[in-house]
Amino acid sequence: MDISLFKEICGTFPTGVTIITTNKHECDYGFTVSSFTSVSLNPTLILFCLDKKAKSNESLNKNDFFVVNILSETQEKICFQFANRDLTQTQRFKNITTRISKNNIKIINNSCSYLECIVKDIIDGGDHYIYLGECIEGNIDLTNDKPLIYHKGKIL
Ligand SMILES: Cc1cc2nc3c(=O)[nH]c(=O)nc-3n(C[C@H](O)[C@H](O)[C@H](O)COP(=O)(O)O)c2cc1C
Repeated sequence: MDISLFKEICGTFPTGVTIITTNKHECDYGFTVSSFTSVSLNPTLILFCLDKKAKSNESLNKNDFFVVNILSETQEKICFQFANRDLTQTQRFKNITTRISKNNIKIINNSCSYLECIVKDIIDGGDHYIYLGECIEGNIDLTNDKPLIYHKGKIL
């Protein structure tokens, strides 16, 4: 199938937006993904897909912890800040208010909710890696319950 038509058709499917945060060798990492989805209830599994060319792949190995921050409508600016390849990880976290999870991963404040997960498997998915995570805890922020929505390459 034609790749640009495929991309355009997939773009007609609206999604939420998440920032995945991790910590490797005392360094915080964060990157924007819309490919997050829930997979299984028992066990509690989720997945997201990350381009094999993304630098952030170096921050995640099997059994590492990560947090899925589900963005609220107030977070459009940080959605693009964490997608900007020209920024270092330190620059991405500038002016971002966070708290720390049980496993020392940054949780981004003012998101709708978050899930803390452990990498169960990293699966080959063509030009992306599929990260399968088991969720160990999470919470919802009822004061930020309107989600950021991505559709046809734009925030709605
Ligand atoms: C709304 C939005 C959604 C995105 N979703 C994904 C995604 O699901 N998978 C992906 O590989 N990149 C996605 N990206 C692009 C990455 O955020 C971007 O390439 C990021 O810089 C990767 O980080 P790195 O190369 O610094 O590791 C998305 C970007 C935006 C703005």
